[in-house]
Amino acid sequence: MKALVLAAGKGTRLRPLTNTVPKHLLPVGDRPILFRVLDYIIDAGIEEIGIVVSPDSGPCIEEALGNWQQSRARVTFILQAEPKGLAHAVQVAQGFVGDSPFLMLLGDTLVEDGVTGFLDDFRASRFDASVVLKEVEDPRAFGVAEVDSSGKVIYMVEKPKEPKSNLAIIGVYIFTPKIHRAIAGIEPSWRGELEITDAIQRLLEMGGQIKSHLLKGWWLDIGSNDGLLKANRVILDASAESDIRGKVDRQTRLEGSVQIGEQAELENSRVQGPALIAAGCRITNSTIKPFTNIRAGTTIEDSTIEGSLILENCRLSGIGSLTDSIVGRNAVLTGQRGSPKMLRLYVGDDCEVDLS
Ligand code: TTP
Repeated sequence: MKALVLAAGKGTRLRPLTNTVPKHLLPVGDRPILFRVLDYIIDAGIEEIGIVVSPDSGPCIEEALGNWQQSRARVTFILQAEPKGLAHAVQVAQGFVGDSPFLMLLGDTLVEDGVTGFLDDFRASRFDASVVLKEVEDPRAFGVAEVDSSGKVIYMVEKPKEPKSNLAIIGVYIFTPKIHRAIAGIEPSWRGELEITDAIQRLLEMGGQIKSHLLKGWWLDIGSNDGLLKANRVILDASAESDIRGKVDRQTRLEGSVQIGEQAELENSRVQGPALIAAGCRITNSTIKPFTNIRAGTTIEDSTIEGSLILENCRLSGIGSLTDSIVGRNAVLTGQRGSPKMLRLYVGDDCEVDLS
């Protein structure tokens, strides 16, 4: 079994952040989401991984993976020149997967408990494909599957106006090589993409047998600002242990599960966990409220931050209260000390914002 991770795409919903960094390298907790997805694959015992990248995301992802690949798995990068859909991504990766069955994951999606159970389930069967499904309240925004009483898929459709079930396709699949013939038999959808949902429906029409696996736990898609913040909230909540490596002065109070990285310095501040303050941060005269993730090298003075993701090497000074916000790398946000402002911001890399 090989694995294919899809990390091309435009990432328009996460602009301006994705103007400078592929969303797959944005952190969820202490590391990029892509690393978490790759961990699922390694944990499931698969060592041959193809990552589909775009001309923009490819060089950044190759650099970020660095030595990781040699030590943990064999990684092949596959270029998808244009984001023409998930089934198109499989088409460009056909040379890599060859005659092998393969696990396919989206590089921006996390599932509770990883994929080992899903794979074991498939290996014990003789199906042509398998998809993970999750019950959702409003399935109209998703690919939707109808299944019979044994869980076998009988129909699949992308974003139906009148869904016949509440089972959404979440972006975790296993395919046998039969999928390539099914993809060859579909046309681009109204949005101009080769849809994987159409390819799976085509496989059904060709007599293919498709299994489903119902996900009980959470599923996190970081494709939007809210999605990225929610994923950070869930992962911070799950890392229950406090771990204090940096310097915390006597005037600072830590409550709940707090992780503070090497060489971070906290002075006269209050941190309410779950919260993550990475290496080399400086927090002074500030309150860090729950579900805040502050990445390495960031300085925060005279401010209150809650439920936010602050990326590397930012400086936030006297900005009042920042809630449910995302601040890109190297951004500088300044205000006046003691400012009572309540802010919710999405700020790209390298921006300077004077809030006074
Ligand atoms: P999407 O989130 O559906 O698309 P996107 O990444 O272009 O984002 P947006 O809608 O905000 O513009 O993609 C899901 C995953 O699949 C993501 O990891 C990117 C990947 N993908 C490809 O690899 N190739 C493609 O052609 C498409 C459409 C997505």
